[in-house]
Amino acid sequence: MTKAIAGFSKLSKEEKINWIVNTHFTNPETAKQVITQYWNSDEALQKLHDEFIENTISNFYMPLGVAPNFLINGKNVTIPMAIEESSVVAAASKAAKFWSNRGGFKTTVISTEKIGQVHFIYKGAADKLEAFFQTIKPKFFSETESITKNMQKRGGGIINISLRDKTGELENYYQLHATFNTKDSMGANFINSCLEQFAKTLKEQALQYEAFSEMEKQIQVVMSILSNYVPNCLVRAEVSCPVADLKEDKHISQEEFAEKFVRAVQIAEIEPYRAVTHNKGIMNGIDAVVIATGNDFRAVEAGVHAFASRNGKYSSLSHAKVENGIFTFWMEIPLALGTVGGLTGLHPLVKTALEMLEHPSAEELMQIVAVAGLAQNFAALRSLTTTGIQQGHMKMHLMNILNQFQATETERLQVTAHFEHNTVSHSAVVDYLASLRK
Ligand code: MEV
Repeated sequence: MTKAIAGFSKLSKEEKINWIVNTHFTNPETAKQVITQYWNSDEALQKLHDEFIENTISNFYMPLGVAPNFLINGKNVTIPMAIEESSVVAAASKAAKFWSNRGGFKTTVISTEKIGQVHFIYKGAADKLEAFFQTIKPKFFSETESITKNMQKRGGGIINISLRDKTGELENYYQLHATFNTKDSMGANFINSCLEQFAKTLKEQALQYEAFSEMEKQIQVVMSILSNYVPNCLVRAEVSCPVADLKEDKHISQEEFAEKFVRAVQIAEIEPYRAVTHNKGIMNGIDAVVIATGNDFRAVEAGVHAFASRNGKYSSLSHAKVENGIFTFWMEIPLALGTVGGLTGLHPLVKTALEMLEHPSAEELMQIVAVAGLAQNFAALRSLTTTGIQQGHMKMHLMNILNQFQATETERLQVTAHFEHNTVSHSAVVDYLASLRK
């Protein structure tokens, strides 16, 4: 068994790599070569990336693709997508083109409220705590003024703070539940700083509150942290057109396609096993844009899936209907995003992605991201309900296999031509490639 190492973080990058390759690899030289070949030759750029996290040894590449021709509220948008999964960008581009001829995507931001909580324990009478909270409430605002000043200038800040009694679920447990508007920033630092000040104010004021007994004065703050569940930071994306205009696939009529599509969505609405995969397809589009624009995809994922279960059962994020001959497909999802602060001003490719999107506000980015999700879902459901998903997937997979076997340009052309009319599978491609190489 490998021995643990003390003081690893203090080692230089070179020393860290040497320790890793000599400890974990049968061929240390090859491992070192792979790790270092991804270093950027621009030392300043490499240093920037090294310092995003601790113990950086290399860069982990992920393709940055683009899906052009998205018509969103009448405006053409080219969407940057950072994703490793074959076929996601191709599917988004196809859906974008399909809908650009049918009125495009319509989006609206429904709300932009973010949430943070101070979780605390208070052992005493609830009505006394409520009276105390009302007395000191203005102090939560005044004592965070130095933190909120700049945000207020930009039109944001603390919206409200309320006291929530959770003792029915956990003994002596209460919360300060605060809502915020963080304008174009995702706002994590701002919210957490406000919350930590609220916690300080809460504890200090309790000690001085005369109506409290000695025990009631000893409020225990357990933690202060934003919530990634943001059901009131909501955006809606929608497409619609007459069923008669849905014609795309020669094997299926527009009416049958619309009916099957709506059924597929209804299945995801009532069946959690399907809903998870259905929503995963939506997240293929969402995460790719969230990553490309330097936002936190884990936060988005956590919040979106919690929202998908808000009625007590995990369900589809998107919905579809046919009414009076009109097909409508839409989605409302919570997205807490930023276009200033964090990685957005640091990562050169993030800056490029945001410029490609023409410097969107956070609200505009919410709409673009929601569209990417809806487009992805449309593309997946269209394939699933017509040709099946594997046809498109295997075409992209073919490229990966060709790369894996370092196919030459001529071989690529021959293999692609052959599999125009033959079913792609890993072994079929490998066999065919081998036959060409004989
Ligand atoms: C694959 O990454 C995503 C899909 O499974 C989504 C879906 O089934 O709707 C194709």
